[in-house]
This record gives sequence, structure tokens and C-alpha cells, in this order.
Amino acid sequence: MAEEFPNFPKAKTTTYVFVLLSINLSASTFAASEPVPRTWPVQFHSILYINTSKGVNQVVDLWYDWPNGRNFNIIQKQLGEKLYDLEWNNGTSYYYTLDANKKCRVMHFPVGILRPNFLDGAKYLGKVNKDGFLCNYWEKVDFITYYEDVETKRPVAWNFFSGSRVHVITFEVGKVLDDPNWQAPVYCFGKKKPIIQTESSPLLLTQMREFTTTTHLAT
Ligand SMILES: *[C@@H]1O[C@H](CO)[C@@H](O)[C@H](O)[C@H]1NC(C)=O
Ligand SMILES: *[C@@H]1O[C@H](CO)[C@@H](O)[C@H](O)[C@H]1NC(C)=O
Repeated sequence: MAEEFPNFPKAKTTTYVFVLLSINLSASTFAASEPVPRTWPVQFHSILYINTSKGVNQVVDLWYDWPNGRNFNIIQKQLGEKLYDLEWNNGTSYYYTLDANKKCRVMHFPVGILRPNFLDGAKYLGKVNKDGFLCNYWEKVDFITYYEDVETKRPVAWNFFSGSRVHVITFEVGKVLDDPNWQAPVYCFGKKKPIIQTESSPLLLTQMREFTTTTHLAT
């Protein structure tokens, strides 16, 4: 045996070193090429179907408009109220109805609206079939699980930590809602001071928004 393979032990050691090196290399290569969620387009329109943490079904028209510093969720609850959640990046949010009840609540969120890169730093969890689409998905602890179509990179769904499950029905990049629609009604501009949300973390902010928009407006 020894005569047949005189250099065997030596060769084996070299092979081990080589194998260890390549494992090391491929591990770091793999880490570097892990998918990251696509940054949100700066302007888009989406129709969302949401099953809230309270099991309420709602359809939301989402108008995300970062260059103009504004974000709009027009929320139609199943066989219920239509709520307008208009958010400005200066921190002011208006929650109102446009029906005879004329409800409006003004709130102030010091951190403003979601940034296009709000998913930066999310932890990659792999691939999964979600709503019939092969998706990459990521998690931001205490905030969101986010599913993106592997092929088109479009968002398919996300779940908020609060329990709301959001399904993306349409996703129209570049679509903008005309200016006149961004005007809160006159009854939002009374003497009442806005309710200040002192939370400074965008994560808490989002949960607060979630809470607010899934709760009936107090008059
Ligand atoms: C919404 O979610 C609840 C659980 O929170 C579930 O019982 C219900 O069936 C869901 N509704 C729909 C339409 O999927
Ligand atoms: C933020 O902008 C909106 C829309 O222009 C305005 O109604 C609101 O008063 C502003 N809020 C602050 C704190 O300046």
C-alpha cells in the first residue's frame, strides 16, 4: 500500500487545505450574492387586499409618491367605511372620511413616510411559494416579512408584525395621483391640535400607522 501510494498522506493534507479554502471562498461568495429586496419605485400605485390583524377584509388603493413627500392609503373596509389615510413627509397625517359623518383626525409622526429603501438590512430567508408566485422573502424583526417575485422583482405580499396580511393585486410603477386628490377636507383644519406620536423609530411608526388605519376613527 505504502509503496503503491508513497505520497498519499501528504497529498491528502494538501487536498484538505484546498477543500477548506474552497468552502470558505464559496461561503463568502454565497453571502455576497444573497438576493436583496428591490428598493421601492419612488412613485407607484397599488391595489392591495389586506386581511387585518382583527380579521377585517379591506381593499386599499396605495399611492406612494416619494418625490412629492406624500403617501396615500385609501381604505375600503368590506361592506363598511371608506377611510382616507393621507400622510405627508413633514410628519402630518390626516385620517378622514368623505361621507356625511365628516370624521377627521390629524396626527403627527416626526419621522415621516416610509423611505423607498425601508427594507435595507432585511434578513434573507430564502425562496417560498407565496400566493402562487415563486418569491424571495426577507424579514425585518418586529416589523415585516416581505415577499418579492423572483422573476419580476415585484412585491407579492407582506405581513406586518402586528398580524395584518397584505396581498399585492396590482403594481403600477410610475403612476401618480393628481394633485387635487391630495387635499384633506376643510373639517380637518379645525382648532384641535394634532395628536403627536413621539415614537422616533420608523418601525414603531409603521406599527402605529397600521394600528391607526385598522381602527375606526375616533371623532
Ligand atoms: C383572515 O384572517 C383570519 C385569521 O386572522 C382568518 O380566519 C380568515 O379566514 C381570513 N379571511 C380571509 C378572507 O382569508
Ligand atoms: C405638512 O404638509 C401638509 C400638506 O402641505 C400641510 O397640510 C401640513 O400643515 C404640514 N405640516 C406641518 C407640520 O408643517
